[in-house]
Amino acid sequence: MNYNLDEIRSMFPALSVKDEGKRRIYFDNPAGTQVSQKVVEAMSDCLIYSNANILGGFETSNRADQVLSDARNAMTNFLNARSSDEIIFGQNMTTITLHMSRSIGKTLSSGDEIILSRMCHDANISPWLLLAKDLNLKIKWLSFNKETFEFDLSELDTLMTEKTKLICVGGASNLLGTINNIKSICQKATSMGVLSYIDAVQLAPHVAINVQDIECDFLICSAYKFFGPHQGILWGKREVLKSLEPYKVRPATSELPSCFETGTQSHEGMAGISAAVNYFAWVGDKYAKEYTDNNQDIRPQTRSIHAALNYLFEYETILTDCLIEGLQTINHLTIQGITKKEALERRLPTVAFTIKGKKSPDIAAALARENIFVWSGHSYALEIMKTLDLYDTGGVVRIGPVHYNSTEEIKDFIKILEKVLSAK
Ligand SMILES: Cc1ncc(COP(=O)(O)O)c(C=O)c1O
Repeated sequence: MNYNLDEIRSMFPALSVKDEGKRRIYFDNPAGTQVSQKVVEAMSDCLIYSNANILGGFETSNRADQVLSDARNAMTNFLNARSSDEIIFGQNMTTITLHMSRSIGKTLSSGDEIILSRMCHDANISPWLLLAKDLNLKIKWLSFNKETFEFDLSELDTLMTEKTKLICVGGASNLLGTINNIKSICQKATSMGVLSYIDAVQLAPHVAINVQDIECDFLICSAYKFFGPHQGILWGKREVLKSLEPYKVRPATSELPSCFETGTQSHEGMAGISAAVNYFAWVGDKYAKEYTDNNQDIRPQTRSIHAALNYLFEYETILTDCLIEGLQTINHLTIQGITKKEALERRLPTVAFTIKGKKSPDIAAALARENIFVWSGHSYALEIMKTLDLYDTGGVVRIGPVHYNSTEEIKDFIKILEKVLSAK
């Protein structure tokens, strides 16, 4: 594939930073990605030229209004939302989900059922467990297959009953890397009158998301995972948002979407979000024309963004393949996730592994000394750890390359991993 990695990398200033002359290898991307120079500049410009609260009617405030409206439009395009009043900003995915669970809870009553997934990050589990405790709701679990690391969606036929009111699943696992068939899940939910709440935090940096096509009710992501600043974004279906009671202070607006946004937002964060989304559009226009969906019903900006994501995913699959092949050469190493070549399109480049006789935190610490940044432990995916019997063992090592990483970095990492493992 024709891929100008040098130009892509040159957009991200952090990638050329060295520590005492030592290069950095960023494989911690599932926990947070680096940002482009444009994101840095947009945030800095916002703080210099638009630093005021909104709706003041004076120059800086008018500019802040524009920053917000641009960010809403950017996210509308990113997710192919119907309109920008379906986009809600907040501090992060976890905070927004805890907040929205209160409003959704108002529609539920004792005995109602919620389906949660054992593949989810805890941010799409604990808010609902807490709600269930408050309202005496019943929780049912969608499990995943320990051999295939995927759901068996026929399980939903037994889990969903006339009492089911909500299903909460992830678009992709932050630990296994599995990409889930959320469209099928949401269609099934819709046909049963069940609301769906999709955690797309790990999906958004890698896969084009079209909320209208997925037919979900809520979909949430975090900009710091898709090359933007630390901020969360919720998309909610307009009719559903309208039907909910917002938890808000009295003087705050009752209008969508701001009625669900508590207090003053991070305007500089929003400026950064617009720049992060514009980066995808730039990639789409410059490199990915042949990856464009020609559906004329989709806005041109969305088509550019989605073309970029399709193009970048193709490159990332090369990285995934290289990483899995390299890891498979290491003795006593088990990849906790999909490894079959023909199934790589159903997984992210995020790869978790364990090594017999070694503690994952020790491996991560040894790699950190080599300036290779990885995570170890459970990464808040507690239910996955319990399912795989890894909860009490120190968890997994998680390697998460993204489109700005290279196969050279992966090969270097494999060599260093071998060295680290053979050291006494
Ligand atoms: C799949 C998934 N969901 C939710 C979260 C929580 O996101 P936030 O930090 O924005 O609350 C994370 C963070 O790692 C995640 O990976």
